[in-house]
Amino acid sequence: MAEVLIVSQTSNRKKIYDEIVPQIAALVEGETDLVANLGNIAAALKEAFGFFWVGFYVVKENQLVLSAFQGSIACTRIDFDRGVCGHCYTARQTIIVPDVEEFPGHIACSSASKSEIVLPIFDENGAVAMVLDVDSDKLNDFSEIDDEGLQMIAKIIEKLI
Ligand code: SME
Repeated sequence: MAEVLIVSQTSNRKKIYDEIVPQIAALVEGETDLVANLGNIAAALKEAFGFFWVGFYVVKENQLVLSAFQGSIACTRIDFDRGVCGHCYTARQTIIVPDVEEFPGHIACSSASKSEIVLPIFDENGAVAMVLDVDSDKLNDFSEIDDEGLQMIAKIIEKLI
């Protein structure tokens, strides 16, 4: 496909997820390089929604290690028992943080980040292989709509790993 993302000018996030999910599936189809695909997925999410930071931390050497991302520089390694990402890894479920200052142990990579959603992505054995971390510069910016939309994208990634 052409490397152009087509997104409606709307504030209806569900509509945008419904539009971009098939485009993301087409974008990664036939490409076997995982980092290339994660990079394009992070870029597509940032472009479609204007999120402050979108990226992946992969499970490596008993830590979460920064992989492809879009946004400002971020911490490179996160222990499994630290931060929202570590909590997501341990809880094996989506974590939505409406106000990062209210989350004990939140790791502030940027003071501009105000709210956050982190989803686990599983390998074929059901182990968490990586987490998808999306940060917003607005408070309370994530809801079930984002959880559902990002889970559709997580399913696409699970077929790639
Ligand atoms: N805030 C995350 C760390 C990663 S940055 O947001 C990119 C956390 O608490 O795990």
